[in-house]
Amino acid sequence: MTAGHDAQEWDSRYGGPERVWSAAPNAWVATTLRGWFAGRALDLGAGEGRHSVWLASLGWRVTAVDFSAVGIERARAGATEVGVGVDWVVADVRTWEPPAGAGFDLVLVSYLHLGEDVLARARGWLAPGGALVVVGHALRNLTEGVGGPSDPRLLATEAGYRAASEGLLVEQLGEVIRPLPQGDAIDLVLVARRPSGAANEAAGNAPVMKTDSGFRYALDVRFFEVDSLGVVFNMWYLGWCDEAMSAFMESIGYGYATLRAQGLDAVLRRAELEWVDSLEAFQHAEVAVRVEHVGTTSFRLGYAIERVASNINRVAGERVDGDVQAGHLRTRCAQVAITYVCVQIKGRNTVPIPAGMREALVADHG
Ligand SMILES: C[S@@+](CC[C@H](N)C(=O)[O-])C[C@H]1O[C@@H](n2cnc3c(N)ncnc32)[C@H](O)[C@@H]1O
Repeated sequence: MTAGHDAQEWDSRYGGPERVWSAAPNAWVATTLRGWFAGRALDLGAGEGRHSVWLASLGWRVTAVDFSAVGIERARAGATEVGVGVDWVVADVRTWEPPAGAGFDLVLVSYLHLGEDVLARARGWLAPGGALVVVGHALRNLTEGVGGPSDPRLLATEAGYRAASEGLLVEQLGEVIRPLPQGDAIDLVLVARRPSGAANEAAGNAPVMKTDSGFRYALDVRFFEVDSLGVVFNMWYLGWCDEAMSAFMESIGYGYATLRAQGLDAVLRRAELEWVDSLEAFQHAEVAVRVEHVGTTSFRLGYAIERVASNINRVAGERVDGDVQAGHLRTRCAQVAITYVCVQIKGRNTVPIPAGMREALVADHG
């Protein structure tokens, strides 16, 4: 089927007397994006413009692209009715290019099933810190859900969305259920953010990279954390990061109690862990914590887990692996980077980091 023919089909669908899609935004899109700082948005396959108009009404500067001229006309009329401006473009998203230099804080792809190529192109149009937000019919919807395309090649899979997110930080990837009168539809959703680069930081609008906060969380390896050889089970390294994270957040005045009081939580989304050396029973260790990145809805902490040996009796000529500071020998045992996403406890929707917490994280950056 040619692109032109596709567009004609959509034109005839949009040519009827009634709207094809609701005037209101998709529920997941609305809960995900509500509260984000408004910036430049691109709505790919915008259809009758429900998301473009909604975003524009929230202060976003929106470019909306769809190859159905009839759909775009209906969208334009809707925007006029609401009294918002959107840059409407009739074009095929497989070949359309944004104006040179345009970087979007949000690229929204809602139920546009063209395969991952378009998503891969779209991620290249993100400004530093910008997010690719995708909702589509999940492959599982074909057998267990209602509605949506019947060609499995067009349906969304986690592997496909993950591949499309290459080079981005994945903040959300998974299925959501969309109740319909005829049953539940199964959607797959993705929120993936372009890391902020040095250029963005220089522009002063940036997330934060932190070098060293100086915060250290002390621990003694407990007996139940080791195997029969006395070596720590791998999982405890993540557990210690969790303990250190709680203590760190308290230290910057934004502990869990404060967060929970606002109906929020910070949940772990991604962890990278490199083991360097093993810790053993009853050894003393410290977890150094530093803020590595503060984004809109997520932040990343870096952890260095170090064995600390004191009262070192060094034999002359003995090789010492580690830093000797004030009589303590520190040996790096693991380094970890964990990305946390701010969510509402009720509903588990991703939300922007509250202003107070953001300030605390940024302030700690110094
Ligand atoms: C299922 S509708 C979704 C519309 C809108 N995103 C929403 O959620 O309400 C898919 C839209 O993608 C558009 N579309 C499909 N293929 C396209 C292409 N290659 N280029 C531009 N638009 C396309 C169709 O015209 C249609 O409006």
